[in-house]
Amino acid sequence: MVTLSWSGLKEIAWRELNQAKYLVYHQGQPLGTKAADVPSDSSSVNYDQCFIRDFFPVALIYLIRNQEIAGHDGETVSSRQVVGNFLATILHLQITPERSKYMERSPGMMPASFKVEGDILKPDYGERAIAQVTPVDSCLWWLILLQAYYLACTQDQTEMHPDLFDGKEPQPKLRRGIRLILSLYLSNRFDAEPMIMVPDGACMIDRRMGLNGYPLEIQTLFFAGLQVARDFLKSDEPYQIRIRHRLRRLQRQICEDYWLDLRRLRMLYQAQSEQYDPPPGIDAEDYFFNKYNLYPESIPYEHLIQWLPEKAGYLVGNLGPSHLDCRFFAIGNLMGVIGNLLPKAQARSILDLIYLRHADLLGEMPMKVCYPAIQGLEWQLVTGCDPKNKPWSYHNGGSWPMLVWMLAAATLKVKHPSLTEQLREDIVKAGHRLIHDRWPEYYDGGNGRLIGRMARRYQTWSIAGILLAQEFLDCPQTLDLIHFGDPYP
Ligand code: GLC
Repeated sequence: MVTLSWSGLKEIAWRELNQAKYLVYHQGQPLGTKAADVPSDSSSVNYDQCFIRDFFPVALIYLIRNQEIAGHDGETVSSRQVVGNFLATILHLQITPERSKYMERSPGMMPASFKVEGDILKPDYGERAIAQVTPVDSCLWWLILLQAYYLACTQDQTEMHPDLFDGKEPQPKLRRGIRLILSLYLSNRFDAEPMIMVPDGACMIDRRMGLNGYPLEIQTLFFAGLQVARDFLKSDEPYQIRIRHRLRRLQRQICEDYWLDLRRLRMLYQAQSEQYDPPPGIDAEDYFFNKYNLYPESIPYEHLIQWLPEKAGYLVGNLGPSHLDCRFFAIGNLMGVIGNLLPKAQARSILDLIYLRHADLLGEMPMKVCYPAIQGLEWQLVTGCDPKNKPWSYHNGGSWPMLVWMLAAATLKVKHPSLTEQLREDIVKAGHRLIHDRWPEYYDGGNGRLIGRMARRYQTWSIAGILLAQEFLDCPQTLDLIHFGDPYP
């Protein structure tokens, strides 16, 4: 095999991505990219559609590169314009109170994906997805991309999509769309705030994997999305007070209750259960250390005391009554760092963990979407015996190259030189295999050495994940596009 250089990989990845075959067109306009270049028959399931979460890393590359790209019929199109078209299209597809009368979906919702059939745009809000999962993360990724687009185009406002901005000013219909998102995400429910309660499969892991309730990925994306919503609404907007309040409480709860390191593990091991009411004069917060009534038998102490380094920690995957899901989920942890949710020391601790547990979390193909895999009876009960999510495959301990951009962004944000160096090596090594294997969606096996059994090839976010990580590492200023300021200005 010829040796691949850093810039050689970058060039090949961009050449691959910059092809008209990946673009989705509607009425002569490119609106985004397909999830994968697959034959358009039933075996492709829905991979020929444009997914909001899949397009995100592609869109960031389009914004950063800002150049003419290959369009249909030999024409070229501005890469930023594709992002503007995408954002405007999703806004247009958002369910409004008027439209919700004819649908069973709530106002504010945005689709997981859309496809184009002839002249018709066909969004999927979950009704056509496998198991009808609901895409709670869509609105949140859309908000984060909106901010990136705005920041990228502020130099040259003539590029702004007229449906979104008038110069620097958000258009009234954009503000309305944001308010609709807030009315959905901040609505009163049965459970107590500040977390947001969702069904299983509501995010990137869109199959049953024990993520019903309060999964970390949704909570951290929610935190990031709320900051964007706040910045695009006027300061006298009635939602502002609720956003501030929610952000504060969300941050506190995630940083405290989801945090797991050896110190907390030792405390949990000793904690009492079945606590009911604090004795007079004792602060409920101190007394209720075990406020979720966790039973020690439910926590995998044996694995964790051996696996957790003395000075590192992470955010657990899910939390609820007598339920602490101790699996490490990459997106939630990395978005907690990127979205300014975690204080410096905790953010650093997560990156230390990733660095020190490289073999488990990154292995031969960075990086694992979740670690460790669930097996045996637990796999049967939690996934419903899902063969696609068998141990060390797909969402259940599989490795996803698209995660590398988030890893690079978090590493640079925390300024972790050893991991940065390691990542440069890993990216070139992984790049070799990805090119050879035709850009699979995911890899299987404890160390990520097998091509995913049911992985599609030419998956756009696998190409974009690697390429975007390279862009960030080569030019860390590009990270400003996903910069979140002080959460409480
Ligand atoms: C799988 C992934 C999902 C992704 C989709 C399209 O269902 O779990 O996150 O959006 O494929 O690539």
